[in-house]
Amino acid sequence: MTQATMERPIAVEQQAQPPATLTPAHRRHILDLDDFSKDEIELVLDTSVAMKEILGRPIKKVPTLRGKTVVNAFYENSTRTRISFELAAKNLSADVVNFTASSSSVSKGESLVDTIRTLEALGADVIVMRHSESGAPYLAAQHFRGSILNGGDGTHAHPTQALLDIFTMREKLGEIAGRKVVILGDIFHSRVARSNVWGLARMGAEVVLCGPPTLLPFKPGALEWGATADNSVTVHVEYNIERALKNADVVMALRMQKERQTSGLLPSIREYVNLYGLTTARVALARSNALIMHPGPMNEGVEIMSDVAYSRQSVIEEQVTNGVAVRMALLYLIAGGA
Ligand code: CP
Repeated sequence: MTQATMERPIAVEQQAQPPATLTPAHRRHILDLDDFSKDEIELVLDTSVAMKEILGRPIKKVPTLRGKTVVNAFYENSTRTRISFELAAKNLSADVVNFTASSSSVSKGESLVDTIRTLEALGADVIVMRHSESGAPYLAAQHFRGSILNGGDGTHAHPTQALLDIFTMREKLGEIAGRKVVILGDIFHSRVARSNVWGLARMGAEVVLCGPPTLLPFKPGALEWGATADNSVTVHVEYNIERALKNADVVMALRMQKERQTSGLLPSIREYVNLYGLTTARVALARSNALIMHPGPMNEGVEIMSDVAYSRQSVIEEQVTNGVAVRMALLYLIAGGA
């Protein structure tokens, strides 16, 4: 989808009186990172730094979204995304309503479009949507006059997770360009991997997707996503975990999505753990200070061993914490105008 570029925000200290330049002449929805420029990603990251500063204050609330209503419309379970969006919106003084499909009129057969129209009629300005069907937030965006923020759709995209991942990498490593980021595991079902590929490639990272052939939708050498300005390919596919991890700056283990697995993709979980589980010995193949990441929720002992998940190099809990700041930044940039 083609959307206009977001405008640079005012300093957070000035947010009590947002100037007229913050009217939504900018991007209206956040559906994926495929149409984000490097400048826009950096704008989100820089704004997130300011939001993180707010989170460090004794009183975390600013009035930026006072009078706005944010609806968390979750058609699929979530802990991190839903709660961090709720906290983010409340920190910005928005009114927040949580909508769970299973306890709504969706259970009586109300369609997605009718539900979106109903939420609009009830006064929603922003809808954060998670849905098990890829593309659902795009359909919602066609029928909603406010803003849709994709909180994860099927196997397609999870842009706010990717932005918080990239924020965490930049916070820890500085420059992202030239960094080797290995995304490991169930790539096939991972919306987190797809959005990270777009964002990281746009930031100039070298992305390596590693997993068993049945869980990797591309063959080695077949990928041409995320070409940089000089047209060099920055995304590689690697079945061999030892080769993939060599000199990695970041290792992001993905959840084995048992609920989305169809039969025949894996001989057994035990074989997967043997071949692709992230162990301390495998982490030692990466750079000595490599970051260990995981979007959560984790299957400890499957895609990542517990001692790795809670090791000195792990930033998994910081990813969760940063999720609030990044989602505050996105709400501010999308809905913080007059
Ligand atoms: N990473 C993530 O999306 O977690 P939740 O499913 O708990 O929101």
